[in-house]
Amino acid sequence: MKYARELLRDVDGYTPGEQPRDAGVIKLNTNENPYPPSPRVLDAVRGLGAEALRKYPDPVATAFREACAHRYGYPGPEWIIAGNGMDELLALAVRTFVDPGDRVLAMYPTYSLYDVLCRLHGAELATVDLDADFGLTEDFFTTPARLCFFTRPNAPTGRAAPRAEVERFCAGFKGVIVIDEAYVDFAEDNCMDLARRFDNVIVMRTFSKSFSLAGMRIGVAVANPDLVNEFLKTKDSYNMDAVSQAVGLAAVEDYAHMERNVARVRATRARLIGDLRRLGFVVGDSQANFVLARKQGAPSAWELFDALRKRAIYVRYFDMRRLEDAIRITVGTDNECAALVAALETLLDVQA
Ligand SMILES: Cc1ncc(COP(=O)(O)O)c(C=O)c1O
Repeated sequence: MKYARELLRDVDGYTPGEQPRDAGVIKLNTNENPYPPSPRVLDAVRGLGAEALRKYPDPVATAFREACAHRYGYPGPEWIIAGNGMDELLALAVRTFVDPGDRVLAMYPTYSLYDVLCRLHGAELATVDLDADFGLTEDFFTTPARLCFFTRPNAPTGRAAPRAEVERFCAGFKGVIVIDEAYVDFAEDNCMDLARRFDNVIVMRTFSKSFSLAGMRIGVAVANPDLVNEFLKTKDSYNMDAVSQAVGLAAVEDYAHMERNVARVRATRARLIGDLRRLGFVVGDSQANFVLARKQGAPSAWELFDALRKRAIYVRYFDMRRLEDAIRITVGTDNECAALVAALETLLDVQA
């Protein structure tokens, strides 16, 4: 394409998981929450009225940011930036803290959007391979870069680096560190306090997973006010629409609803991991709302993915180095996971 920027020639763009139109599909491929968001969220949407749609929204989502600051233990909204999903905030982080030509650090394998964002910006993503169990290696601690995406829990491995490792990394790294906590509400602990302890740390959260709001596009980043001020220069004037602001506020104010859903997902996750191990998959302990199931021999992971798809059960297969032998399965309802396990029993010819 002769009209596009030269930079785009080698960029394929990010490929999101498939969103089937058929309502009958058991959809375990994009890490959505199987349970509905808080009823207060729907009340907030109904309560909006025509005026809220006629006028521009609050450009800096003040009420939502105040509620987030309170919830996450920060002094006020000056520590928070809200966005149109965490993906927008990840893109803003590159735009705000990285010059074209700079190096950005990430682990491998990890969320593949980072690479796309760097390429679009003319920056280089330097990845350091995780070890055989998907833990960090020493090289990760010694590779200098302008920005680091530290994904915890990591995707698609589901593993969370020990907090002590995160702290050691933050104490040594000279650039800006984005701790991507997209899945952290499903984990045992989090790093939310590190944005206060380190002036180069940004902790990011999404409302897509634990709050069951992927359809809304709501994300927040927590960082020292000096970093937040730089972010504000690069965002769109009205990057969070009026509906998202009202919904985000209602969701964060009904935190207990989210925690109840998370508890159900975690219980199902434990059963699913047990079932998959019984079927012969190698499955690490997951701190997220998905599990990575690996298997050797026939049928291959891709064949299983394909056969499940033909049975209207969607999981995710990544055509990526080190993930050839794996499928990633979102933790759905108990019934959805039971249907998946039954299908795998048939496909693998295993007795229940
Ligand atoms: C590791 C990671 N970070 C960020 C996101 C983006 O979340 P959002 O839906 O808020 O854009 C995802 C979504 O899949 C993710 O897996």
